[in-house]
Amino acid sequence: MKLPARVTICEVGTRDGFQIEPDFIPTEQKVEVVNLLSDAGVPRIEVTSFVHPKVVPQLRDAEQVMARIARRPGTRYAALVPNDKGAVRALDAGVDAIHTVVSASESHNLANVNMTIAESMEKLRAVMQVAERAKVAVACGISTSFGCPFEGDVPLAQLESVVRRLTDMGARAVGLADTTGMANPRQVARVLEHLTPKFPGIEWTLHTHDTRAMAIPNILAAMEYGVTNLDGSIGGLGGCPFAPGASGNVCSEDLVHCLAAMGVETGIDLDRLIAVSRRVQEIIGRALPGQIVKAGKSTRRYPVPDTVAGRVPAARA
Ligand code: COA
Ligand code: ZN
Repeated sequence: MKLPARVTICEVGTRDGFQIEPDFIPTEQKVEVVNLLSDAGVPRIEVTSFVHPKVVPQLRDAEQVMARIARRPGTRYAALVPNDKGAVRALDAGVDAIHTVVSASESHNLANVNMTIAESMEKLRAVMQVAERAKVAVACGISTSFGCPFEGDVPLAQLESVVRRLTDMGARAVGLADTTGMANPRQVARVLEHLTPKFPGIEWTLHTHDTRAMAIPNILAAMEYGVTNLDGSIGGLGGCPFAPGASGNVCSEDLVHCLAAMGVETGIDLDRLIAVSRRVQEIIGRALPGQIVKAGKSTRRYPVPDTVAGRVPAARA
């Protein structure tokens, strides 16, 4: 396999995850989770979103969360915004980077942000302008890049046209999001093989959901095409409130475990990340989909059973 030596993980659990939790998570606990994540060495955190508080009431405390987190040097704290109003709020709150959202399919974009793709593009143009004035980085995510829960297949030409409109207005970082886990590894490879040569110099991110257990295979496919920015969610939290059937992102600690086992560097302390996942389970009061929290790392060893002890032949050199 041709894998990069190092990848950059962006933790999105406190946004993609907490936005869909049935109960409002108290601000102090959100702050605690963000701080635990940065202490574990997570280099990028999508802390929250600056959206309409009536539309996503779970994240109505975005300003307070941003104001109270401890800013670890070296961690990039970002927030998701759908429009310039969100961007201004995010900049006032002191984000290091703005993540924008638009879908590759019209019906999901209308369901998610109540705008056509063209209307979103006008808002995102304004976002780019305010961010540029503030000298804050912007990364543009594209929901339903690999399939839409309403429309099904998203033609590659349609995805390409959304990427083109974003890069034409100055985007240098583009995220392809598999909002409801419809992608498969060959499709990811095909999409990247098509897009990457057409948009040289773009920093690509893959944002996966493990709805159909294909998140890590899709990530491996993307890494073979040179993608080194990956979103993940602690414990596998996550899901879009405006996409039926959506469920959690790829579980961050499972992904970091997989990458570490293959010798791909993330800079994240896996043991501390696993501890964060345990704490998040306590906070939300239920078990999360992550596997490593249950199974332990692949380096875990058990005592030899009594029935076998004394009968194990010595290992040959
Ligand atoms: N933050 C707070 N308030 C906002 C806002 C933002 N980012 N954007 C718009 N508003 C306010 C406007 O100021 C206006 O307020 P008013 O009624 O007091 O004048 C009101 O919302 C309506 O504005 P409008 O532009 O017509 O928005 P809308 O009602 O069509 O909603 C969005 C559009 C994008 C704001 C809304 O659909 C949204 O927040 N979606 C987020 C979806 C999401 O987070 N999905 C999951 C992540 S992918
Ligand atoms: Zn998502």
